[in-house]
Amino acid sequence: MRLKALLTQRFNAAMRSAGIPDDCSPMIALSGKPQFGDYQANGAMGAAKRMQTSPRDLAAKILDHVDLEGIAEKLEIAGPGFINIYLSKPFLAESLNQAKRKTLAPEHKQTVVIDYSSPNLAKEMHVGHLRSTIIGDSLARVLEYQGHNVKRQNHMGDWGTQFGMLIAELELHLGEGEQAELALDDLEQFYQQSKKHFDEDPSFADKARDYVVKLQSGDEHCRKLWHKFIKVSVAHSLDIYQRLNVGLLEAHIQPESAYNDALESVVDDLSKQGIAVDSDGAKVVFLSELADKNGHPSPMIVKKSGGGFLYATSDLAALCYRVNELQADRILYFIDARQSLHMKQVFITGRKAGYVPKRVRIEHHPFGTMMGENGRPFKTRSGGTVKLADLLVEAVQRAEKLVREKNNNLSEELVKDIANKVGIGAVKYADLSVTRTNDYIFNWDSMLSFEGNTAPYLQYAYTRISSIFRKAGKNPETISAAIDIVESQEKALALKLIQFEEVIDQVAIDCYPHSLCSYLYDLASAFMTFYEFCPVLKKDVPEATRNSRLKLSALSAATLSQGLDLLGIEVMEQM
Ligand code: ARG
Repeated sequence: MRLKALLTQRFNAAMRSAGIPDDCSPMIALSGKPQFGDYQANGAMGAAKRMQTSPRDLAAKILDHVDLEGIAEKLEIAGPGFINIYLSKPFLAESLNQAKRKTLAPEHKQTVVIDYSSPNLAKEMHVGHLRSTIIGDSLARVLEYQGHNVKRQNHMGDWGTQFGMLIAELELHLGEGEQAELALDDLEQFYQQSKKHFDEDPSFADKARDYVVKLQSGDEHCRKLWHKFIKVSVAHSLDIYQRLNVGLLEAHIQPESAYNDALESVVDDLSKQGIAVDSDGAKVVFLSELADKNGHPSPMIVKKSGGGFLYATSDLAALCYRVNELQADRILYFIDARQSLHMKQVFITGRKAGYVPKRVRIEHHPFGTMMGENGRPFKTRSGGTVKLADLLVEAVQRAEKLVREKNNNLSEELVKDIANKVGIGAVKYADLSVTRTNDYIFNWDSMLSFEGNTAPYLQYAYTRISSIFRKAGKNPETISAAIDIVESQEKALALKLIQFEEVIDQVAIDCYPHSLCSYLYDLASAFMTFYEFCPVLKKDVPEATRNSRLKLSALSAATLSQGLDLLGIEVMEQM
């Protein structure tokens, strides 16, 4: 059982014995400072208010009843009625002796569908796609680590009006004898070219519009061109995923076009149920739940007057697929906060139409924007969108420079490997370590710093531990000593180590990976302090103490590398 859950259980029992109403919670929390113990039970104040009695007296009564034999070494009442809990060192040691870092077995295994990355294929991936891709990937890893059945869904945008224009452009290039791969070598440029043609050449524009209709009705020529385009664009995204160490594969792509055949029947069904109604020739769902302040319901178009379907229509079809075919218990969407209204509309409509039964949870987890130093959305110097591919190249180059400055005894191959892990790790960690819903400022120097809450700092902490084991000539995985906790730095480190799974549980629930980052940062710092005060390999350290400390070090390394892996960040033995 998790430590926090164990304490909650014991305090709950004590509160009931003390005659406190059932719905008063003990409110177990980590202590902010060591002088307030390791954990606190803060529930006495709330309960006393309810019962109109003195909180300190009530806290004393709770202490009379609580059974923490073998768990806590000291309990004290502080301030208005806080209960400070000091855990016992042998208890921590014993819990750690059993700790393992391996996939867990959940009490209730769920099928969790995760919609993330999902770029539009018309253009090259840019920095705007970074957040969904790495936050979603981290949650996929976390839920998989917990033992859930994770189904990644890359809802790529490969359908819609833009594709008429793009395939008309591609037809031009192929007509001139060019190979598709070459023509599409720079997707961004290709898109701009075709847009220019579309805007300036009316006959091209007509053709483009005609091609959209043809494409959607299955015309063979248009389909062929479209396939060529999609193939190149998908390959580009897959390459980015690989460089980012993101676990999205071709098999996870379930693009918008996959729902094409289902759209008509979704609209028919919504109409039959009276949920979608005619409005100026279009089919629209009006949602009073999302009415504006004047009481006007929020409209969501599901079919245009011209007959075309929309983004919302494919999202409704996707919901059905995820519930019925993928058998989801929980569906997570990692999409920019600017699409919050869209998601609300889709969710409410999906529930109303009976596509999503009550037992299935649907959650939109929005995120803020990546900003430049000037506090505005991150752009190139000339104001263009920053290609993700370029950003990653720069990250690795900058990291390589740092690695060479720090250590010039490494082989060329090793330098490249380390630079890759540090550069990519830094970009990901800078993003994952801020509260998801906030905007953040992209800054190369701070993300690549070896000090502070950064990926390089954590990777460095890991290499420090590796070097201890190299010096000791031991394998951290086979250390089987019993842990003995004596010093306060050992205790602080042990406490952190025990909390790993608690933190993972929380991330799995609220989908905020920054709490895992803060935890890993605290853990690395606790390790550094421990290592400073508690010698491991020095000659005069008794054998049993050395082995206990090696075991603590090994667990720290395993936890750091497992935690970073859940963020999609790699570690190395030296840097
Ligand atoms: N392709 C969309 C975009 O780039 C994101 C799709 C997110 N997923 C979804 N099911 N709507 O904005």
